[in-house]
Amino acid sequence: MPFEFLINGRPAKVDVPADMPLLWVIRETLNLRGTKFGCGMALCGACTVHIDGEPTRSCVTEVSSVAGKKITTIEGLSEVGPHPVQLAWQEIDVPQCGYCQAGQIMSAAALLAKNPHPNEAQIHEAMEGNLCRCGTYLRIRKAIHRAAELSATPHTRGVKTAHAGK
Ligand code: FES
Ligand code: FES
Repeated sequence: MPFEFLINGRPAKVDVPADMPLLWVIRETLNLRGTKFGCGMALCGACTVHIDGEPTRSCVTEVSSVAGKKITTIEGLSEVGPHPVQLAWQEIDVPQCGYCQAGQIMSAAALLAKNPHPNEAQIHEAMEGNLCRCGTYLRIRKAIHRAAELSATPHTRGVKTAHAGK
C-alpha cells in the first residue's frame, strides 16, 4: 500500500511495507543519505529528522505513521542557503568524524525553532539523546549559542527554515 507525505517540501509516494522504518525509506527508497543509521533503537539520535517540526528518531518510526505529514531531513533544513545552525557549525568547526552531526543539527534546529535563546539546561535536555562518539559536545553547545546569535542578526534573520511557522 503506498504512503504519501511531504519530504523537504516535495510530495512523495512510496510503495513499501507499512512497518518499514522511515529511516530506510528516506535513505534507500528516496535516496537521501544525509540521515544516518547508528543504533536502530532510538538510542543515539543519528537518524533524527523533523516530523511536523518535531525532532523524531526515524529508525523507530514506521512509515505508515507519517502518512500525510511533513518530514524534513538535513537536506531540506533550510529553503534558502545554510540554516543558522549549519553556519554556526561551520564557524565553530564542530564535527570530528561527522557521522552523528546531521542528527545533532536536526535536534539543535528543532530546539531553536521553539526556543530561540535556550539556556544550558534547555540545551542539555534537548540534546542529551544525541550521542557523539568523538565527544564534540562542548563545541555543539557553543555552536547552539552561536546559532541563536546568528538567527538574530540581519544577515541570517531572513533564512527560512523548512518548518518555520509551525
Ligand atoms: S539510529 Fe536512530 S536513534 Fe540511533
Ligand atoms: S563527530 Fe564523530 S560521532 Fe560525532
